[in-house]
Amino acid sequence: MSRISPSILSSDFGSLRSEVRMIDDAGASSVHIDVMDGHFVPNLTFGPALVKSVRDSTKLRFDTHLMVEHPDRFIRSFSDAGSDLLIIHPEAKHDMQNTLKLIADCGRGRGVAINPETPVTSVYEYIADADLLLIMTINPGFGGQKFMPEMIPKVEEARKYIDEEGLRVKISIDGGVNLENGKLLTQAGAHELVAGTAVFSSADPAETIRRFIAL
Ligand code: DX5
Ligand code: ZN
Repeated sequence: MSRISPSILSSDFGSLRSEVRMIDDAGASSVHIDVMDGHFVPNLTFGPALVKSVRDSTKLRFDTHLMVEHPDRFIRSFSDAGSDLLIIHPEAKHDMQNTLKLIADCGRGRGVAINPETPVTSVYEYIADADLLLIMTINPGFGGQKFMPEMIPKVEEARKYIDEEGLRVKISIDGGVNLENGKLLTQAGAHELVAGTAVFSSADPAETIRRFIAL
């Protein structure tokens, strides 16, 4: 059994409410919302208003992945809009401890995401109190990129550390995840998988979510 967090980045934005309801009905664990600002990554996506507009479509956790240059400036507004877990990058321009505190002050879950070139050891100081460690298996910015298999040892390294230290933080994987590499990632120690293209470009997205859960 796997936990799956479908990324709405690859969904039909014109039917976002029903896409979110489908994610819920199919049994997913949370909804992954990719926020991009055109600076931290060269793409532009959603703001807090969108989170607010779909908030009443589901009770599922909204995991908001902030790929923005100044995440500290947006914590309060996404929290107010209904984001349950805010995921931040150490590669952005902010003070990680300060932003993690801002998230905690809002009473929201704390997530730490790392780009492929960032070693997992560099975020050990932040994950002790965090809820989620998001290991990127592509360079962030766009859906539909090719999974980087060389990230699998990083997942194993992170899981070993978390288990040895007895931390409660959960490992999630983001980028190019599909039903084939998903199995390998779960075996490597991932607690949860994020998938956009693999879900929404499939013939039957709800069935694909169920197949991820069955991994
Ligand atoms: C990329 C995002 C991912 C991505 C996942 O910057 O963080 O969440 O949309 O989409 P796929 O599964 O298509 O790689
Ligand atoms: Zn993401």
